[in-house]
Amino acid sequence: MAMDGGIDIGDELVDDGTNFIGIVPTFISPNYLTLFRLYEKLEVSGEKGVYRFRCLFKDTASIPETTLSRMLSAWDCLYIHKRDMGHYDKYLKDNLHIILANQGIEMDKRIMLFTEICFELIQGVMAKHFGLPRSSTETCNKLKALMFESIGVITDLDFLKELAALIGHDYDTCTHSIKVGWLMAVFVNANPDLFDVSGKSELEKLVVEVAVMGFLHDIGKSKIPRHIINKKGRLSNIEYVAAQAHTAYSLGLLFELNLPRHVMDGILYHHENEDGSGYPCGFKGNKIPLFAKLCHIADVFDALALSPELPYKTPKTPYQALMVMAGKNPNLDALQQMEKEVAEISDLPFAGGTENPETPDLKVLEHEFRMNREAQKRVEVRMRLRDKGMAHCFDTDLLKRFVITLNRSRSFELSALFRKK
Ligand SMILES: [Fe+2]
Ligand SMILES: [Fe+2]
Repeated sequence: MAMDGGIDIGDELVDDGTNFIGIVPTFISPNYLTLFRLYEKLEVSGEKGVYRFRCLFKDTASIPETTLSRMLSAWDCLYIHKRDMGHYDKYLKDNLHIILANQGIEMDKRIMLFTEICFELIQGVMAKHFGLPRSSTETCNKLKALMFESIGVITDLDFLKELAALIGHDYDTCTHSIKVGWLMAVFVNANPDLFDVSGKSELEKLVVEVAVMGFLHDIGKSKIPRHIINKKGRLSNIEYVAAQAHTAYSLGLLFELNLPRHVMDGILYHHENEDGSGYPCGFKGNKIPLFAKLCHIADVFDALALSPELPYKTPKTPYQALMVMAGKNPNLDALQQMEKEVAEISDLPFAGGTENPETPDLKVLEHEFRMNREAQKRVEVRMRLRDKGMAHCFDTDLLKRFVITLNRSRSFELSALFRKK
């Protein structure tokens, strides 16, 4: 019996449970109790399948925060009405980094929360960008298992707090990283012949490893100034050079973790281009590790096609993105010359203060304005040039396999994995 919002009896709603979602009380910070109402679920004696949902924490202004926290932890499960779920989801997104780093919350619950958020994100991508609105229960379970296992690896390495720091620093980089990890896992699962694996369990291990690689590939961005990461618009040359440092920062953060060598290589070299025009080392062709080449392809594909729409940037369709990535650039010489000039600018000291000059000298300001405008123009030309074709950036055979993999909807089923789970 659906009760269409529940029957209101004073402070309580009577409902069959279909209008309420169970949540973990310790995820809630007492400061946010005004955003949504919390309910406890009580049996109605003599009535099967009908419950009373009693509203809690209605007047919290006079109760100390520590007391509220203690009260919240007294319940194993509390409930939120469906009409408040939008506020609750936003609360989770805004506070995910705090919840994940909170050692007062059991680790299993934190992993489950992050797993659910990753799962929802990927389900959304499959529906919106690949026209796969309904996954089978088995596919959903495998996807959740992939996320759960990968986050479990990061937790075992005691690295969840670093991931939480990145989420707090820049949520979009975190969602990008999850999508890159998923794309890499899908690719490895669909193309086991390219990798040195024998048997299902080795393949399953590798699929989880590449998902972890994707999750962590931009972890060093937590050390790049926020105004560069979150800049609304193209980066200037100087900012672009500063942003490039994230691969080295990632290496520094991950150095002590004893990750497998191929995972570290994949992360450090994921911006190397096939023709040697990438960074940090300018490696060419076979010098670039295979997992780095794959991470590079998934990284650029996500950035071009699956990233959120912004006022200054309209994402391409997957087809358009792959056309750009596979296209031969007719102005390659000019593009490479510009990239070389940008790399040379890295010799200059980073002018981090130019956005907030302390000396309001008009001449200085005018000079900076002209320099910034000049840099901006060059960046725009560079990006337009790049969009004419990026085939020089990728391993052609690997990119072909990537296109074929995305073109087959069954690739997303993670078919060979987690059969018993
Ligand atoms: Fe990156
Ligand atoms: Fe990336």
